[in-house]
Amino acid sequence: MATASHRIYIHEVASRDGFQIEPSFIPTEDKIRFINALSHTGLAKIEVTSFVSPKAIPHLRDAEEVMKAIERVPGVVYVALVPNARGAERALMCKADELNVFMSVSETHNRANVNRTSEQSLAGFKEVMDAVRAANAQVRMNASLSTSFGCPFEGDVPAERVLAFAERCLELGMHGVTLADTTGMANPRQVRELVTSAVQAFGADKITLHFHNTRGMGLANVVAGLEAGVTRFDASLGGLGGCPFAPGATGNICTEDVVHMLHEMGFTTGVDLDKLLSVARALPKIVGHDVPGQVAKAGKSSDLHPLPENLRV
Ligand code: COA
Ligand code: ZN
Repeated sequence: MATASHRIYIHEVASRDGFQIEPSFIPTEDKIRFINALSHTGLAKIEVTSFVSPKAIPHLRDAEEVMKAIERVPGVVYVALVPNARGAERALMCKADELNVFMSVSETHNRANVNRTSEQSLAGFKEVMDAVRAANAQVRMNASLSTSFGCPFEGDVPAERVLAFAERCLELGMHGVTLADTTGMANPRQVRELVTSAVQAFGADKITLHFHNTRGMGLANVVAGLEAGVTRFDASLGGLGGCPFAPGATGNICTEDVVHMLHEMGFTTGVDLDKLLSVARALPKIVGHDVPGQVAKAGKSSDLHPLPENLRV
């Protein structure tokens, strides 16, 4: 179990996983302002955008503009999601600190998402690594493994398959791997078992967990991940998020709710929760609708209410 003495690292993904599936395009200026506000809240990483085909994800067609215009606050790692060597080149031109390549461990979802077999995706990762080395770029590399806890088309995904792909990504020279529950199928027991094996095999510092709260198990899965020793979690402000190529995909676990829970449990995150909440409370105006996050509405558990008049002495 990660204990309260462990720092927990929060990776914000709202401007990528969130904005990619919004009903409307978020104007570039709003994206930049939003990311700049997040940069001052103490988050460890911000996944800014993705350098994918603008035909596949039209809402992130302004990736270059956003990545180049945002303020770079020291200490924050600015991440770009990339599908292939072309995406990596685009992201490197914009000076991303970390490239996050992605594939699904289930064949069907990988085909739906990036039109490749899983093996082809892995070969593509090698091409990306080669391009990064050829450019002599000082960039961190991470691989996200979607559908690690279940596939919306195929159902169960064998743990051995997930661990094998994670191992092969690390063998390619990736600094870390993210085990992603793309459509919220993971349950806490499964998380504890799979992630304990991953931590034993690769070490906790190599692993990030990415949960969606599709079926209400998101925060329970974070606790299971902590129990397995993981200290890095993706989350999305307001609980926005979802993959357009996965049926029924809904929001990620909500950043401010995760941070609130971790602080109540005694963990350190480096995040200023009040600042984060003020950015979260501005989010419905940016996206034009209510968002799932709960703490922004209810307030922190430490925000006490005034005593009712009839109970005052
Ligand atoms: N950036 C911009 N454009 C790209 C690109 C990149 N990184 N990679 C490919 N393209 C363009 C190609 O130039 C081509 O354009 P054209 O139709 O005008 O000729 C088109 O995208 C298709 O490219 P192709 O190499 O034939 O690949 P594909 O059709 O098999 O698509 C992906 C593969 C990965 C590029 C595409 O499916 C994609 O971007 N998917 C996004 C998945 C995603 O972001 N999911 C959500 C996050 S999990
Ligand atoms: Zn996701």
